[in-house]
Amino acid sequence: MESILKRENEVLKNNELIKIEKEYDEFEIIMLIYQKALNSIVEKFTNLKRVLNEYYNYEVITNVTSRIKSPESIAGKMKKKKIEINYENMIQNINDIAGIRIVCNYKEDIYKIRNIIANQKDIKILKEKDYIKKAKKSGYSAYHVIIEVPVKIKEETIHIKVEIQIRTALMDFWTSTEHKVKYKPKKKLSNIDSFKLYIYAKIINIINDKMFKIYKKQNTNIKEITINSK
Ligand code: GTP
Ligand code: MG
Repeated sequence: MESILKRENEVLKNNELIKIEKEYDEFEIIMLIYQKALNSIVEKFTNLKRVLNEYYNYEVITNVTSRIKSPESIAGKMKKKKIEINYENMIQNINDIAGIRIVCNYKEDIYKIRNIIANQKDIKILKEKDYIKKAKKSGYSAYHVIIEVPVKIKEETIHIKVEIQIRTALMDFWTSTEHKVKYKPKKKLSNIDSFKLYIYAKIINIINDKMFKIYKKQNTNIKEITINSK
């Protein structure tokens, strides 16, 4: 990454990463590289969503969204983790600068998607966290995979971290509300409301499983996914 930053504008011109209309500073260039990595992953999963849906006649992936973390959020996270703020520390320690979220219907689909990720030749898994087998104390449930994606910049290939969050639509609903009322706000949520959220996460989990049971009973011939995508 460092050698690339030294050749910053040259890199941008020759690789057509983006048309140069102004001078980019170091931070903007790093973010453009993260954006490039994220774009390639979003494209991969958007294609996969279509292919899986056509092949299985069933929506394995229902939604794909992505975002680049804001500079304020990155700085906030580094402060919270007591990491000195510089680019090197940021690249090393912040795993979710580029993030993609994959939403599906059932827990079983989450593991199918996880296995598809593990089978991608150009993706290296660095870290996995299964908050489905064991939810967080808050009640938060999802499957997290930190991957490394190759990004070609001129003749050099660098590896960029991307965080993938895989969750069901019901988990996603719980998380987006919890994020707004507890995870993100500076104002502390009362203990009783925190406890309610925890219980609701459990209830949502039970409903998700019960819905899946009914679905499976009616669809006994669901194809096993054996895709070994490129
Ligand atoms: P950091 O991302 O550096 O905090 O590392 P970590 O090891 O704590 O990561 P973890 O995998 O636990 O969480 C990463 C991301 O998952 C967060 O940035 C959130 O987007 C999401 N997340 C984790 N826990 C919660 C939670 O309790 N509530 C909500 N709403 N989101 C959560
Ligand atoms: Mg995050």
